[in-house]
Amino acid sequence: MTSKTFKKNILCIGAGYVGGPTMTVIANKCPNYKVTVVDISQERIDAWNSDRLPIFEPGLKERVLSARGKNLFFSTEIDRCIDEADIIFVSVNTPTKMFGEGAGKAVDLQFIEQTARRIKENSKSNKIVVEKSTLPVRAAEALATILHSGNNSVKFEILSNPEFMAEGTGIRDMESPDRILIGSKDTPSGVAARDVLLDIYLHWVPKDRLITTNLWSSELSKLVANAFLAQRISSINTIASLCEVTEADVTEVSRAIGMDSRIGSKFLNAGPGFGGSCFRKDILNLVYLCEYYQLNDVAAFWEQVVSVNDNQMERYVRRILQAMFNTLVGKKLAVFGFAFKPDTGDTRDAPAIYICKRLLEEKADLKITDPYALDNARKDLHDAEEGVEFIEDPYQAVEGAHGIALITEWSLYKDLDYQKIFDKMEKPAFIFDGRNHLDHQALYEIGFNVYPVGKPALSHL
Ligand code: NAD
Ligand code: UGA
Repeated sequence: MTSKTFKKNILCIGAGYVGGPTMTVIANKCPNYKVTVVDISQERIDAWNSDRLPIFEPGLKERVLSARGKNLFFSTEIDRCIDEADIIFVSVNTPTKMFGEGAGKAVDLQFIEQTARRIKENSKSNKIVVEKSTLPVRAAEALATILHSGNNSVKFEILSNPEFMAEGTGIRDMESPDRILIGSKDTPSGVAARDVLLDIYLHWVPKDRLITTNLWSSELSKLVANAFLAQRISSINTIASLCEVTEADVTEVSRAIGMDSRIGSKFLNAGPGFGGSCFRKDILNLVYLCEYYQLNDVAAFWEQVVSVNDNQMERYVRRILQAMFNTLVGKKLAVFGFAFKPDTGDTRDAPAIYICKRLLEEKADLKITDPYALDNARKDLHDAEEGVEFIEDPYQAVEGAHGIALITEWSLYKDLDYQKIFDKMEKPAFIFDGRNHLDHQALYEIGFNVYPVGKPALSHL
């Protein structure tokens, strides 16, 4: 098929964790659309065009291979691709601003603004611009102002279409989404643009899962969804602390409350704290917005979700320290899992980063193992001068270890031979199951001193 025979040209600016997979799914589901993903990073684009994709996501590679070169393309020719596009998804990163006004909370919008200016400069025909990145409320207003500034006669219609996929289940989430949200202006051109986007999703998403709202509700809903999800994790983590001192069991409490259909059972797993590139940044963005509108009590409420999370990571470290006789100097700890969650190699804001840095501060020797995240782990801990090794084989990582800190619940850790592991370790052997992932009774019977989260320890000491 030549490009002339495609129904429309879709462009996505930003070939990251969202841009790459979302466009791969669109290309697979809509063979009559040409989908091009561009990025300023040559390295990323080269990787998307190679056999070693820049990100690991179950099911992604097969789908890239089935569409790449047919109706899915990866390129760095941003200006030409903008010119040719009918619909442009903006999927660049929106990190927390680390300087000036709003530092530490507000979103750093520089990549969005650079993208908007580039779209304006290279557009010779009208275009639909879709916010795929997570943005503050009313960002579409600023985007429209930049795009329409100057004497350009080209018209841009801005839509908000936030992405709700989670890493590790990204393909499943996009192929079978709970909902697709599209925010638009309630004007004839806004509604027409919205219908163009709806047409794309209708290729595979049932009509009753497509929600349309005004632009601001759509932008805000994305921040609120992440804030509510993160808030549930912080809530259950506070209860885990209470369980540890009262001999209640957080898994039993989660189950008991989760069976109430008004509460629901998902996102109630206690752990070492949430990580990932978005929860912290999006809540801080919400906090900043509330402060901006002088809603200080609302801001304080949401900020607590982040402080509880920070305390949770520290509590995990303290539990290790206290159990191991208040000193980790020279002790070997095998760290099981570094990714912020299983089934991804992503380590952005992973609890493991904070936890490992604290353990190193206590002068522990770390042997870190993870099936996909060791390259990123090396980068995250590049400052550590000594005391850290990265080892692929978990059996090798536990050689001579005094304890195991399980931070990411990779399924492979369930299937290891823990008798063999116990035999390789120093005694007394400790295991700190930060995800309540393993069979604690069986470990205890082997001889381990077991420290789960939100449950009493099973100790031989
Ligand atoms: P990412 O860092 O993986 O990818 C962003 C890409 O944009 C990078 O490759 C970067 O080089 C590129 N980029 C930056 N400026 C550019 C420019 N001016 N022109 C062209 N390319 C440019 O980020 P991500 O994880 O894909 O997140 C993107 C957005 O999606 C963020 O707003 C994030 O909050 C949101 N989001 C992320 C997830 C997730 O699971 N990662 C889920 C939902 C929403
Ligand atoms: C999250 C949201 O789930 C997505 O809907 C959203 O699109 C995305 O953020 C985003 O905006 O980036 P993600 O961060 O990829 O997705 O992964 P989650 O499954 O939400 O896990 C986030 C963190 O919470 C992980 O560290 C995970 O271990 C932790 N978590 C999750 C818990 O500690 N307990 C739970 O019960 C669930």
